[in-house]
Amino acid sequence: MILITGATGRTGNRAATELAKRGIPVRALVRNPAKAEGLIAAGVQIATGDASDADSVRTALVGVTKMAIILPNGEQQLSLEKKLVDLGVEAGVSHLIKLSSMEALPTAHNATHKMHWASEEHIRASGKAWTMVRPSFYLQNFLSNAYTIKTEGKFYYPFGDKGAAALTDSRDAGYFVAHCLATNGHEGKSYDITSRDRLSFHDVAAVFSQVLGRKIDYVAQDPAAYKAFLGKFLSSQWHLDAVCDIFAEIAAGYVVDVTDTFEKVTGRAPTGLAEFINEHRAVFTP
Ligand SMILES: NC(=O)c1ccc[n+]([C@@H]2O[C@H](COP(=O)([O-])OP(=O)(O)OC[C@H]3O[C@@H](n4cnc5c(N)ncnc54)[C@H](OP(=O)(O)O)[C@@H]3O)[C@@H](O)[C@H]2O)c1
Repeated sequence: MILITGATGRTGNRAATELAKRGIPVRALVRNPAKAEGLIAAGVQIATGDASDADSVRTALVGVTKMAIILPNGEQQLSLEKKLVDLGVEAGVSHLIKLSSMEALPTAHNATHKMHWASEEHIRASGKAWTMVRPSFYLQNFLSNAYTIKTEGKFYYPFGDKGAAALTDSRDAGYFVAHCLATNGHEGKSYDITSRDRLSFHDVAAVFSQVLGRKIDYVAQDPAAYKAFLGKFLSSQWHLDAVCDIFAEIAAGYVVDVTDTFEKVTGRAPTGLAEFINEHRAVFTP
């Protein structure tokens, strides 16, 4: 049995449903069973619980041999992930897979990427087999720009005019997690996965324009003003600071390289920006 956390989210959903599709017994730790209808329909077992509730995690871990740890960014992410690892070890899990980030490095400066690296280190020190799945900037982030792309033909970020990113589809990240759980030879591997697209945000706008057939512009925002705007939607000051620190790094020119790891390991081509926009055309179109 494989246990997946975060399965009602973007990456975990794809990981859990892909495993079920392959006929591999998979269970999801789910906080709100009302969100699990699609998982149940796909054949995923549901264990109701929360990473912060050790008893619920212990129950979910009964009979589990491999665990995928997928949690959202937040102040508690590191302590929750460490707890999941320790409970997995206690339950006799033999292989731990963590959804991390390509920017997670020992030299990372911002809280999110430092946290991912510390969590990876905790897993590597667990004595269990491990695999790190490390995507970059999710294509799905652009769904949060759908409204202004649709209504104004513009999208806004505080990335300056030179900010760029290597792009990964969260569904590919989930598929990759499932692939590492379903096939052999991934122990002790740290996989940086991206699509073939490493683009400035002006280039992203050009791809939107080309696919949608109308002019879409990226409009660089003043970082302080953008932070004040984002603060209306994020309730945690820690999270707001952490996100804006990442934005500042992108604006300062930090960008990772694309890799061909996804295709080499899975044998499938990764989803690129143009394909993603085309698939989601309806949400970007007035
Ligand atoms: N966004 C990017 O560009 C990007 C790039 C690289 C890496 N990443 C990494 O991707 C990860 C997030 O993955 P995602 O985008 O797939 O997440 P997501 O869509 O935000 O979903 C988060 C999932 O975690 C669950 N969850 C939250 N708190 C939990 C708790 N205490 N106990 C159990 N489950 C809990 C949520 O459940 P509910 O449905 O109940 O809320 C949901 O299923 C982060 O670690 C991030 O660093 C993101």
